[in-house]
Amino acid sequence: MKNILVTGGAGFIGSHTVVELVNAGYEPVIVDNLSNSLPSAVRGIEKIIDKKVKFFKMDFENIPALKKIIKTEKIDGVIHFAAFKAVGESTEQPLKYYRNNVSGLIELLSLLSNENIPLVFSSSCTVYGEPDKLPVDENTPTKPAESPYGATKQMDEMMLSDVVKASKNFRAISLRYFNPVGAHPSGLIGELPLGKPSNLFPVVTQALAGTGGQLTVFGNDYDTPDGSCIRDYIHVVDLAKAHIKALELLSKQKDRYYDVFNVGNGKGNSVLEVISTFEKTTGLKVPHKIGARRPGDVVAIYANCSKANNELNWKTEKTLEDACRDAWKWQKNITYPQESS
Ligand code: UD1
Repeated sequence: MKNILVTGGAGFIGSHTVVELVNAGYEPVIVDNLSNSLPSAVRGIEKIIDKKVKFFKMDFENIPALKKIIKTEKIDGVIHFAAFKAVGESTEQPLKYYRNNVSGLIELLSLLSNENIPLVFSSSCTVYGEPDKLPVDENTPTKPAESPYGATKQMDEMMLSDVVKASKNFRAISLRYFNPVGAHPSGLIGELPLGKPSNLFPVVTQALAGTGGQLTVFGNDYDTPDGSCIRDYIHVVDLAKAHIKALELLSKQKDRYYDVFNVGNGKGNSVLEVISTFEKTTGLKVPHKIGARRPGDVVAIYANCSKANNELNWKTEKTLEDACRDAWKWQKNITYPQESS
């Protein structure tokens, strides 16, 4: 495998994965419609890798055009990031999520399974819902989804498993991401929320920068040691590297292979711990107040990543401190208000 199509390659996790693909000797080809990213992400990638990257500004759901790219670029594998991911928005506009995340994947799968092109799929710890026992491993039963977004990821995993079983030569891996955070240590790429951010890290860095008002901690009366919710925060560069390991594993597999892997750092940190880690690493105070619980939030979740450690031969190298430092460095470099796609 050499030429890898990356849908959503200008996005947060996609852009970091493109850099790691190049570092590992692959030739990435980005397909991104820039609906939730900016051209500056592609320029940031090019600065880091010090060369041009192949980039097609288009919708991955344009299957005839995608088919053409797969032929002309001699694509050997696909990493599919292009999807919507805002939990709150998914409850307001469920069809937007089912259309893109489910119908879009159906179209992509019919193309890839016909051409026998292996796939690494972006799934999420959201498939577990509110778990009964921590940490969660891949055998932890999935609970009813907390949101349409979560439901789309559950459906996507089911489809992948069924399509692999029914096809002759198709192979796929789903990576269940925990909470991807941080940025590239160069400060040239990172999370670029367009509009008001909803994820914790960009809310914190904007509060630190004085551009986003203060952070509201969503609840401090949960049944956790400090009362705030617990998540498994994984540095985006570590997460990006898991995709390279997934491609390596896929290339060694025989036909009809499908598996799922948790990709987290294996530790739970509370919202208040994230705030204090930001304060320690930046030397700044995070302006924040305690607010009401956010509907749909699970109380606590973190991963058992033994399967990814053993079978993908992957482990994390970075800490929460690294993630806070890199996210803050990136925040100080963001110039997107002047730019438009
Ligand atoms: C959720 C999903 C994750 C998905 C992500 C996409 C779960 C368990 N996780 O992450 O799979 O990829 O959405 O967006 O379903 N917080 C505040 N104040 C804020 C923002 C967040 O206190 O202004 C808290 C939240 O209550 C939560 C933590 O910070 O406890 C992380 O929140 P966030 O970054 O939004 O991610 P999740 O909701 O955990």
